[in-house]
Amino acid sequence: MTPFVPPRPAAHERKSSWRARARQFLNSGLSLFLRGSYDFIGVSRHPLPHLPGRPPRFAYMVREPEAIRQVLVSDSARYPKAGLMDSMLRALTGYSIFVSNGEAWRRQRAIIDLAFENARVREVFGLMRDASDALRDRLEALIPSGGEISVDVDIETMHFAGDVIFRTLYSQPMGERDARDIFASFERFQRIAYAHGFLSLVSFPTFLLPSNWRGRRDAAIIRRALNRPIAQRLAAIARGEKTPDSDILATLISGVDPVTNTRFDATELLDQVAMLFLAGHETSAAALGWALYLIANRPDVQARMRAEVDAALGDRAPEFSDMRRMPFVRDVFQETLRLYPPVAFLARDAASATELCGQAIAAHSQTIVPTWLMHRHGIYWKDADQFDPDRFADPATKSARACAFLPFSMGPRVCSGTAFALQEATLALAELVRRFEFSPTPGHTPEPVSRLTVRSANGIPLKVTRRRDRPAA
Ligand code: HEM
Repeated sequence: MTPFVPPRPAAHERKSSWRARARQFLNSGLSLFLRGSYDFIGVSRHPLPHLPGRPPRFAYMVREPEAIRQVLVSDSARYPKAGLMDSMLRALTGYSIFVSNGEAWRRQRAIIDLAFENARVREVFGLMRDASDALRDRLEALIPSGGEISVDVDIETMHFAGDVIFRTLYSQPMGERDARDIFASFERFQRIAYAHGFLSLVSFPTFLLPSNWRGRRDAAIIRRALNRPIAQRLAAIARGEKTPDSDILATLISGVDPVTNTRFDATELLDQVAMLFLAGHETSAAALGWALYLIANRPDVQARMRAEVDAALGDRAPEFSDMRRMPFVRDVFQETLRLYPPVAFLARDAASATELCGQAIAAHSQTIVPTWLMHRHGIYWKDADQFDPDRFADPATKSARACAFLPFSMGPRVCSGTAFALQEATLALAELVRRFEFSPTPGHTPEPVSRLTVRSANGIPLKVTRRRDRPAA
């Protein structure tokens, strides 16, 4: 089979005007990474645009495994989470775990970890499966008998991942009205939050922009929709009624921080739920969309996944224990996360002046770990731009996986939802290849851009048919 090399972001146009460059920068943070070699090792310094009269500021790109460990793991207290997106994100998620630092973060993380420990993730498997059944039914209903349809899989995976979070949070599906309100508002919100984050890098007063008001209005719509089931649950508990006890909301309500012996109050609950919705659906949806694009271009990979799923499941519904029995499906997802990491870079502030790899770092400068670049680094990865899921089973990539693969970050702020996301993706991909065949849309090449996550600016339209060799039941 001819190797498949999926698209990188479009090349930065060096000769374009500053307006065009600013537009490109605001449209996608990936444009940051397009200058120079992907294969640099060390810490590089990049001047940031600054307002007249203000002192020069710099961002530092950390592209050396030991220095990355220092920033994210061993010396992480010196590199708190950057406040880049703070002002807009706070409108949606309050001072939640995603933006907090210090003692506030520690307390929030202690309670949230209770909701995502392995036993809990196992308990929500059935709710995830309901969402994957609903996705299957939506696609089934769209495909005419014996025919094919063109589906923008990005939209479907967004709906699926939103539904997964909704069901596992609240033990109820995402209704039509919630889906409409949340997705439309979210699409606008994420563009604005991303653009404001970058404008704040140059100390631009974003509160003066009309988009500031629009972003806050969208955040309020999303919060209202997410608060309805929380308010209902709290009211039912207050009335002494029996309520679900194994979904994420139940753990967030009952979870106690062992150090302060405190629980989340109603506002904190909404903040954390909004954050989980944001952190959990946008990332998983983006990665699943790219995974479908990649396998659509490699029918042989699709066939191997299908054979593995058939051997593991036969005709029955998947169970939690089956997830371990589909290592190739999981490797396809890992390879997708390598090529299209939903979080393209991790931003930290240097709390004080320091040094990394011999490079002096000024206090309060941006320290950026560019996941995107590490994942495509030619020194660590053979044929780095090629889609090759087998590399994850190859002992030769062990060291690359250890030092240049961090889709979920690492250290104390590693993604709380890692096990949840891997379970969700393995289940969804297994169920999709079991029922359907995906092929590319001729002439369409997705254009990767990074806003809050790495998405395709022009969607991911794929042709979908029912599986030919074993018609769906
Ligand atoms: C493929 C899917 C996912 C990817 C690639 C991913 C990636 C990440 C990354 C890179 C971070 C660290 C961000 C930073 O430090 O700047 C993060 C944090 C986080 N993620 Fe995920 N994530 C995924 C899915 C999920 C899901 C499904 C949930 C929960 C439902 C979740 C919950 C969180 C939380 C709570 C944090 C903040 C942790 C902290 O700051 O202590 N993520 N995620």
